[in-house]
Amino acid sequence: MASKAAPLQSGSGAARGARHVAIIMDGNGRWAKKRLLPRAAGHKAGVDAVRKTVRAAQDMGLECLTLYAFSSENWKRPEQEIMELTGLMKRFIKADLDEFHSNNVRLRIIGNYTAFEPEAVELIEGALAKTANNTGCTLVIALNYGSQDELVRAANRAAQKGEITLEALETELDTADLPPLDLLIRTSGEIRLSNFLLWQAAYAELYFTDMLWPDFDGKALATALESFAGRERRYGGL
Ligand code: IPE
Ligand code: IPE
Ligand code: MG
Repeated sequence: MASKAAPLQSGSGAARGARHVAIIMDGNGRWAKKRLLPRAAGHKAGVDAVRKTVRAAQDMGLECLTLYAFSSENWKRPEQEIMELTGLMKRFIKADLDEFHSNNVRLRIIGNYTAFEPEAVELIEGALAKTANNTGCTLVIALNYGSQDELVRAANRAAQKGEITLEALETELDTADLPPLDLLIRTSGEIRLSNFLLWQAAYAELYFTDMLWPDFDGKALATALESFAGRERRYGGL
């Protein structure tokens, strides 16, 4: 009989001291291309990776997981692909919302999700309302999110209230009440931030892996957190 894989470390300590991990989930298209499949198949496999990663984050006791699902620049993609991504998002909410809710997961969105089709917006708002009072892991999905746009919006709001100070601007960010970002992961081998959490990443640890997003899972998250645990964070001090 094949031996069972060792269970992932769970509970306190498994998140290696990280409170907030964010992931740029990249490489779905290349994953599909390698298998001579349409890009949509890569996105579908990407949703399975999201499920595995969220479950692992919950098991580890991670406070907050932020996933970059659709950037404000992704509207440049063909309409067909945008439709497929929206369809997957809707199916994901329908299929997984109950499980998240029963696991005490609180859903949050950053970015302007109201730009998506009305049915998707309705589903998102239902999911936000349903999970609003949950106290477990906060799952933040970045939808139609762009960090530069977030900063411009935040600066305008702060300016309306008075002087733009560091604190005033920070409280106007989409991420205002979330824990500080500890670790920013990007899959697919690209070494760039693609307009994601530029302000929040100021002192985050960065982790780049060649793994394509659909291949990512709890074990990959644990590996990234192990790397994080070995970093010395100095914040400019000694
Ligand atoms: C990430 O995979 C998913 C989204 C950006 C929505 P990509 O679709 O960017 O995949 P690649 O980068 O083309 O491989
Ligand atoms: C970043 O990936 C956006 C998401 C993962 C949602 P992209 O594939 O859009 O980034 P670029 O175009 O390679 O910079
Ligand atoms: Mg990409």
